[in-house]
Amino acid sequence: MPTVLSIADVLRERFAQAISTAFPDAADSDPQLRRSDRADFQANGIMGLAKPLRVNPREVAARVLENLGVDQVIANLEVSGPGFINVTVTDAAILERLAARAADARLGVGSNAEAGVTVIDYSQPNIAKEMHVGHLRSTIIGDALVRALEFTGEKVIRRNHLGDWGTQFGMLIQYLVEHPAELDEGTEPDDSGPSMSRLNRLYKASRAKFDSDADFADRARRRVVELQAGHAETVASWQGMVDESKVYFEAVYARLGVLLEDADAVGESYYNPMLADVCADLEASGVAVRSDGALCVFFEDIKGPNGEPTPLIVQKSDGGYGYATTDLAAIRDRVGMLGANQLLYVVDSRQALHFQMVFETARRAGWLPDNVRALHLGFGTVLGKDGKPFKTRSGETVRLMDLLDEAVDRARTVVAEKSPQLATEELEDRARQVGIGAVKYADLSTSRTRDYIFDADRMVSLNGDTGTYLQYAYARIQSILRKAPEGVTPTAHQDLALETAERGLGLLLDEFGATIDLVAETFEPHRLCAYLHSLAAAYTTFYEHCPVLKAPSREVLETRLLLCQLTGQTLRQGMDLLGIGTPERL
Ligand code: ARG
Repeated sequence: MPTVLSIADVLRERFAQAISTAFPDAADSDPQLRRSDRADFQANGIMGLAKPLRVNPREVAARVLENLGVDQVIANLEVSGPGFINVTVTDAAILERLAARAADARLGVGSNAEAGVTVIDYSQPNIAKEMHVGHLRSTIIGDALVRALEFTGEKVIRRNHLGDWGTQFGMLIQYLVEHPAELDEGTEPDDSGPSMSRLNRLYKASRAKFDSDADFADRARRRVVELQAGHAETVASWQGMVDESKVYFEAVYARLGVLLEDADAVGESYYNPMLADVCADLEASGVAVRSDGALCVFFEDIKGPNGEPTPLIVQKSDGGYGYATTDLAAIRDRVGMLGANQLLYVVDSRQALHFQMVFETARRAGWLPDNVRALHLGFGTVLGKDGKPFKTRSGETVRLMDLLDEAVDRARTVVAEKSPQLATEELEDRARQVGIGAVKYADLSTSRTRDYIFDADRMVSLNGDTGTYLQYAYARIQSILRKAPEGVTPTAHQDLALETAERGLGLLLDEFGATIDLVAETFEPHRLCAYLHSLAAAYTTFYEHCPVLKAPSREVLETRLLLCQLTGQTLRQGMDLLGIGTPERL
């Protein structure tokens, strides 16, 4: 329950009562109340009752209207067009809510006492490999969803499903054993950290040897068997690589300012001891069957290009387990041990079929009961300016740290231009907040499933649909609040008549809670971005039309200061839920 009921919520209640009084048969119908340019709100759903009730649509609207009446919240009502109802609300109702929200640490947004447990799987980089832009998207989107869900009261368990297991480790470890010193020699630390450049070289060198030297490939395969069997020296070498990679991942997370911690890193290897059991159970229950030696799950509706059924392979014919088996074990663990009633996976859209098959298998096996929701939250590809998947000129994947550096560099230019007198330390801090915020906003503001172009210059623009625009609006508000004359307190004077721009801003501030609910329902952070962008734009309009510090009277000054203050609080809270910083000055 919200602690401050929004005007839209109050109106919905009034409409529900009015409809059930006027037309008891249609008591449950949705008035479809929306914000409108003609009045403050418009109800478009009333006309829909006309047909079933066999009454003329304008007549239906008129009878509902009779039962609404004006009061402390509703200032004016009218039927328009074929049967819409236009609603204008009172200035007092707006002012009352502004005051109540500004006085509350959560801005009047309640939290759900009966919330559930969500396990969210995101980021998921692979050991001994650079993170790529796909991992960046997963990390940023996952982080925003964690924050939004937690704000609604949900218990959220983060899972960083590291790619830390598999046959490639045989090759990596074998190469390290045979060339213990080679990789350390002349190690030039680069800005992704010394460990990552070393691991990169290890990956390339061992892959080349594996592909060109059949004897080495054999030794590498035997290494995999030793790793599976827990051979001490082999496991120690593997652990060394995991630890080294984690240092690099953590540097990226720290740079991004995301919530992921070491305790959240529960990689594929964690599920390894459970895989034999998973397969045995699937086979015993008949969910999986042997086919050409492999253990497979088949689906009616999933077929390959030649019309042959495409199975989910849970155990290969050589006895090895794959990616899918690990995901099944993870579901069993997350539902059975962690008590999740919602499982979310923030993973590239190209893995949609994988998750469809994994979820269906888990349902058949009874590991995913009907009351547990499992969703693959896919996302699109990051493109270069040429519209093709983002690569360096030489065709390699772009290193994340390089990309973040680029955004911070552009941000530094923008910040330095605005505030040329800044000391280096301040400049760096602001450039980091602006640059990282810009990358996050650009990612989160596009609808999740769409591709987008990475364009650092556009991202840090001060007046586009950017994180920088929001940060700038926030900083401007703080500057006004700092300049407020002494003895003057932001206060919503309830008997004032509001200007159009004040009403527009006030009504938008009242929609913050509904926006968070929408993000938590749809798992679409771009809805919060769009809201914050409209809020910053409405603030700009207000600022242009309604002088604050030169307001005509003390009451108006205090009321406008309260509007500034609450806009600042709402922007800060909203941007925090996106993981975007709000410097006090820009
Ligand atoms: N590590 C994988 C990759 O880099 C993504 C893992 C996604 N998560 C999962 N539970 N399957 O592509």
